Amino acid sequence: MSSEVHHHLDTLLHEDRLFPPSASFRQQANVNDPSVYERADQDPEAYWAEQARQLDWFEPFTQVLQWDPPHAQWFLGGKLNAAYNAVDRHRQGPRRHKVAIFWEGEPGDVRTLTYEQLGREVDRTAHMLRHLGVRKGDRVTIYLPMIPELVFSILACAKIGAIHSVVFGGFSANALRERILDADSKLLITADAGWRRGGLIPLKANADEAVQGTPVEKVLVVRRVGDAAQAAWHADRDVDWHELAAKMPKTPVPAEPMDAEDVLFLLYTSGTTGKPKGIVHTTGGYLVGANTSMRTVFDLKDSDVYWSSADIGWITGHTYVVYGPLSAGVTMLMYEGAPDWPHRGRFWELIEKYGVTIFYTAPTLIRTFMKWGPQYPQQYDLSTLRLLGTVGEPINPEAWMWFHEHIGHGQAPIVDTWWQTETGCAMIAPLPGLVATKPGSATRPVPGIAAAVVDEDGHPVQPGSGGYLVLTRPWPSMLRTIWGDDERFRKTYFGKFPGIYLPGDGARVDEDGYYWILGRIDDVINVSGHRIGTMEVESALVGHPAVAEAAVIGRAHEVKGQAITAFVTLKEGVQGDEALVAELKQHVVNEIGALARPEEVIFTAELPKTRSAKIMRRLLRDIAEGRVLGDTTTLADPSVIEELKRLYKDSE
Ligand code: WTA
Repeated sequence: MSSEVHHHLDTLLHEDRLFPPSASFRQQANVNDPSVYERADQDPEAYWAEQARQLDWFEPFTQVLQWDPPHAQWFLGGKLNAAYNAVDRHRQGPRRHKVAIFWEGEPGDVRTLTYEQLGREVDRTAHMLRHLGVRKGDRVTIYLPMIPELVFSILACAKIGAIHSVVFGGFSANALRERILDADSKLLITADAGWRRGGLIPLKANADEAVQGTPVEKVLVVRRVGDAAQAAWHADRDVDWHELAAKMPKTPVPAEPMDAEDVLFLLYTSGTTGKPKGIVHTTGGYLVGANTSMRTVFDLKDSDVYWSSADIGWITGHTYVVYGPLSAGVTMLMYEGAPDWPHRGRFWELIEKYGVTIFYTAPTLIRTFMKWGPQYPQQYDLSTLRLLGTVGEPINPEAWMWFHEHIGHGQAPIVDTWWQTETGCAMIAPLPGLVATKPGSATRPVPGIAAAVVDEDGHPVQPGSGGYLVLTRPWPSMLRTIWGDDERFRKTYFGKFPGIYLPGDGARVDEDGYYWILGRIDDVINVSGHRIGTMEVESALVGHPAVAEAAVIGRAHEVKGQAITAFVTLKEGVQGDEALVAELKQHVVNEIGALARPEEVIFTAELPKTRSAKIMRRLLRDIAEGRVLGDTTTLADPSVIEELKRLYKDSE
């Protein structure tokens, strides 16, 4: 086990506060019979088949699981359509005129879409995709802000069987291009720009730069900010969303019957090498996972108003803004902007305005709210909230308690959900009517999921000890492969323990069987709940003409969870000064996006290396976090450390 995990273990709070669900919550919960865990454990296939039947299938599946490790196929023979399940099936019954989406733009503009209206928009968008030459199996890259057209685009792809690849709007032109090329998309959907804290995110300008030299033939452009954007227009390539939409027939587009194992989408995430991985999710299994967890973990009822503050550019937005809630027929809130625009009470104002009952957000935001103080939520009526959730990183008990007291008025259960882009839906999380929660623990695997914490040899560790978190059985919404790189898929996730999925997180299980996630054990940093590979940032830095070598680490940060510190050696004759620090930070922003901007850049003559020339990141982390240094006996030149410690202090 890495020393980093041991360190986490040492500092982990001993937590024995326990919050059981209230009798009234338990009574009304969708799942309140504890035998579900045992039943699912004894016959996971029967459990998942039962869940799968909550969806509408055009043709029923004939086999639940085919497991040829590391490749799983679920619901074989079944045919269904994800957009049909998310929208069209609700257009036929009592939910037809139910609100699907309350949308609120950052400047305060609003839009309400019933399931019927959403369905028409999806059909219109599907007509546009067809008109632009998109066919079943084609990839479409989507680079949009949090506006309704993003949902229309995703569902329109799903409806006609095209594979969507959504790229978060905070990524740079370079990052977008890399993802377009890897997916080999011929259509890009973007907007003139997006709003952020009153300013503009130049999406179209980034897109123009990104598509050069890619297979993209057409760029479909939503006018989000109108005259405020000064985007160039390429008449032969750019298509105005609204003009084209107006010309489309008003007829429904039939939902393409997809094989359960047909690819639904790609979503890129960071790994341990510089190249992001295109995580592949398929239609049947993914949708079953998303839908099931809405009903079980989020206890969703028809009367709920649900809000996940995640951006659709990440997996949380795919599963818990689009496919999960809509397939469950929810009324949800979707918000375009920042939590402090135009004021720090914006989120609470929205919860009051729409009567939100379930609120799902990230620990980094909770810590930000804590910093701002309880006077903001106190100004609003949050009494409608009955369930809270968190995701993205371990939640520190202080933040958990604050969320519980100030937002959940001491009553709403908190579901801390551990999962990943790769897992598709929540894997370790309480069922809120059944499981007593402990602040900081994601509690236990959900029914149908088998986890363990193991040592280097794959043997389960003693309760209380740290080890590798693993998932020991296949599950429906697991990634199927990495787009175009099955070998990397095998190695990354199944290379260490054959047939057993390795998420890359450290964990420990306590005496009660509760899981405590300790953070990544690989070279992935979690900044504000966003995964960033250290190698990605390093290769961006060494791409700068002044840089000879770079080592990037994540250090503990009060609000962001982790922040990026870059140690950089410069080329002969280059002088490291403040201006160069600023330039290098900006260079990383240009290469990857603002989310990867280093908090500190420290120039050093040498980087600490082992005798086999491996950079000792652990030492760098220790320096950045001001810890007593661990074992340096393998270090080639120990004097490097003293120098680094001095430099790091100077930079503060
Ligand atoms: C971390 C986000 C602790 C973890 C859904 C994981 C968490 C990575 C939690 C996946 C949680 C996510 N507690 N850690 N509740 N949720 N993580 O792919 O390190 O963006 O491996 O998926 O975030 O990040 P991803």
